[in-house]
Amino acid sequence: MRLRTGVKGFDDLVAGGIPRGFMVAVVGEPGTGKSIFSIHFAWQGVMDGQKVIYVTTEESRESIIAQAQQFGLRFEKAIENKRMIIIDALLKDKSDRWNMIELTIEELLSKIIEAKKELGYGDARVVIDSMSAFWLDKPAMARKYSYLVKRVLNKWNMTIIATSQYAISTSFGFGFGIEHVADGIIRFKKIVKGWELKRFVIVEKMRQTPHSLRVHEVEIRDREGMVVKGPVSMSKEEVVLPEKVVEGVKRGILRKSLEETLMEG
Ligand SMILES: Nc1ncnc2c1ncn2[C@@H]1O[C@H](COP(=O)(O)OP(=O)(O)OP(=O)(O)O)[C@@H](O)[C@H]1O
Ligand SMILES: [Mg+2]
Repeated sequence: MRLRTGVKGFDDLVAGGIPRGFMVAVVGEPGTGKSIFSIHFAWQGVMDGQKVIYVTTEESRESIIAQAQQFGLRFEKAIENKRMIIIDALLKDKSDRWNMIELTIEELLSKIIEAKKELGYGDARVVIDSMSAFWLDKPAMARKYSYLVKRVLNKWNMTIIATSQYAISTSFGFGFGIEHVADGIIRFKKIVKGWELKRFVIVEKMRQTPHSLRVHEVEIRDREGMVVKGPVSMSKEEVVLPEKVVEGVKRGILRKSLEETLMEG
């Protein structure tokens, strides 16, 4: 069984969705779209009747709710209806039961399991945004922590998206911790092209899946959210010309080569 991500155009890249029970790493530089991808994934879980647990370490709960709201995704309603719990690991304030005081793997796992019990029986989606926050000052632990999270949460019918944002120097020094353990890697990229910021996504790994090997352009649109567009190596004409025009051009070329053949004959 595959889980739809809720990101327009993305599921086609992974044969319909992310296999249930997987832990998938969503990686990329700041501002590339990791959290927005995660927000869509979380919302699709609510839509598909699953329980959703969203751990946020670099933004507050309110910030995640406000970001979702910009795309018309009503996280507050989902929380009210006990379909979703957002665990806030940023504010470290003890007044809310769903805040984390210490950024440790032990507390992370126990909060997630507590949240799952609260939400009740059934399949769950978990977002850990970001997972790299848990090994910031000890990058050598990345692999061990990732393995622990996967092994423990696997028993709870959870499908996990874990974002990771680390300096390249870190990954060189200590190996790709989460990336070996994860069942899939979705990488977001950004470049400035023609004085404009462009975003891209590539599925670098997805076990048990004949996934796309192409880099696809991504847009984040106000009110709509993330949309995956076509693969980037496609020529501009192919993307923008309506089918009729393309057909016409093809027919023209065909006619011309037919004429040439006849003339030669
Ligand atoms: N309403 C909106 N309309 C258009 N673009 C938006 C909107 N809201 C956010 N964005 C874009 O999305 C970007 C943020 O994306 P996101 O938070 O997913 O990045 P991230 O990869 O999680 O970054 P970080 O590693 O810093 O957490 C913003 O910098 C902005 O460019
Ligand atoms: Mg983020």
